[in-house]
Amino acid sequence: MTAAATPHPLERYYRLHARIYDATRWSFLFGRDRLLGQAAAALQAAPVRTAPRIAEIGCGTGRNLAALARLLPEAALTGIDLCPPMLRRATAKASPRTCLVCAAYGPDSLPPAATDCIVFSYALTMFNPGWDAALDAAARHLAPGGLLAVADFHDTRAGWFRSWMGVNHVRLDGHLLPVLAARFDTVRQEVRPAYGGLWQYFCYLGRVR
Ligand SMILES: C[S@@+](CC[C@H](N)C(=O)[O-])C[C@H]1O[C@@H](n2cnc3c(N)ncnc32)[C@H](O)[C@@H]1O
Repeated sequence: MTAAATPHPLERYYRLHARIYDATRWSFLFGRDRLLGQAAAALQAAPVRTAPRIAEIGCGTGRNLAALARLLPEAALTGIDLCPPMLRRATAKASPRTCLVCAAYGPDSLPPAATDCIVFSYALTMFNPGWDAALDAAARHLAPGGLLAVADFHDTRAGWFRSWMGVNHVRLDGHLLPVLAARFDTVRQEVRPAYGGLWQYFCYLGRVR
């Protein structure tokens, strides 16, 4: 794990939350296992190489990377996250085929056109500003025909909930799906309700153009 040069506002947030992250997030970060299963199935259905190269951007505590290592035992995994307290937890569960990088994701984070699948799981709604630049970077890093896999909050009709999520650094206003569908070739997308419709979340799979 390499160290980030400058601190980020999210670091203070996750200094506390990293301790309780895995114990609590199962109760509201829905669709993550569904997305990983769909991405693994898509990679297996059209194998580009024996060891697919997968990167999770905003990998947090490494929960998804550990699941991907189980689903795709040959995969070469990279996790990128800017919060050291989260990455310390990811380090503890990383497989030998996992490389972790402590940095903000950007155009030079990965070699161009050399990653078969890029996963954003409940990360893009926290890239504020920067979610659109992150999609540009992902399009640059994906190999031709490479897979973009995204699970995230979609939208809510409850203004108070949108504000509360803003306090927690999450932008929740349906901004991601239309842009994903416009910029990638959609393989599948699903929007599902959470907690009786208090909010919606989505899973998206697309291929780079
Ligand atoms: C809600 S957590 C999601 C963690 C994991 N992907 C999951 O599904 O459990 C969002 C993560 O994105 C990271 N993050 C936010 N902005 C980032 C950026 N610009 N570059 C890299 N990581 C970022 C945060 O540090 C945090 O660990």
